[in-house]
Amino acid sequence: MLSAQYEVYADWIIDGKVEVYFDQIKYPGFFAWVIPSGNGVGKVGVAGREINVSKTITDFLKNKGKYSAVRKIFAPIWVKGPIKKFVSDYIIDPTPKKAYCDKKSIKKYGLMPPIQLNTQEAQEVAKYIYNKYNPKEFYKIQQERIKFNSLPKAEQLAIKYGCFSCHQKEKPKLAPSFKTISQRSSIQTIKNSIINGSKGKYKNFKIPRYNPNES
Ligand code: HEC
Repeated sequence: MLSAQYEVYADWIIDGKVEVYFDQIKYPGFFAWVIPSGNGVGKVGVAGREINVSKTITDFLKNKGKYSAVRKIFAPIWVKGPIKKFVSDYIIDPTPKKAYCDKKSIKKYGLMPPIQLNTQEAQEVAKYIYNKYNPKEFYKIQQERIKFNSLPKAEQLAIKYGCFSCHQKEKPKLAPSFKTISQRSSIQTIKNSIINGSKGKYKNFKIPRYNPNES
């Protein structure tokens, strides 16, 4: 599960008052917290699956009022143990006493209605909410996606079409390196080779025909 926590300075942080938001309507699939650490400073965080934590925390903070951020932390967190039990328990029988939300939030947004599930079903749903993805794996995939998206478009295409199964950037593999190719051929020649294939130009290498318009 991804999380973001800011250390912020704000006048709405009240010393000694910990707030935890767990609201299915306003913040489905995630929770948020405010933990005062004294003198108007506190830790404000959000966590959830498949949410943009950086946008979510900004929205959450905007909603709370004026603040200035002291420190920002983005990290994956593990959620298990008691909180899992809390979720299965709460899904079956949500009472204000069990809710982590502060009284004001409950008044404003209401309580989650009790859902007619048996304990085992609720346990399954709870498991699904927390275990659908291994949080570490999920985080890794997210990081890879971010890295891929930040590459130049052409490199993304080269990855997508498997060029790197034969080529490498700097060193020869099954095919000459992109560096070597760039030293031997012009853009036009390279383009033609990609479309029509190339043979015999580089000793002992043979490129298969490749047409981007064919799937
Ligand atoms: C199955 C292995 C293989 C794959 C996959 C492959 N290539 Fe090649 N590529 C080769 C070989 C082998 C050569 C050397 C051909 C020669 O000696 O003329 C080559 C040569 C080239 C050349 C050299 C052309 C020149 O005229 O100097 C270019 C450009 C090239 N590949 C681009 C690509 C791109 C882009 C992709 C992905 C869309 C790709 N290759 C995928 C094996 C491959």
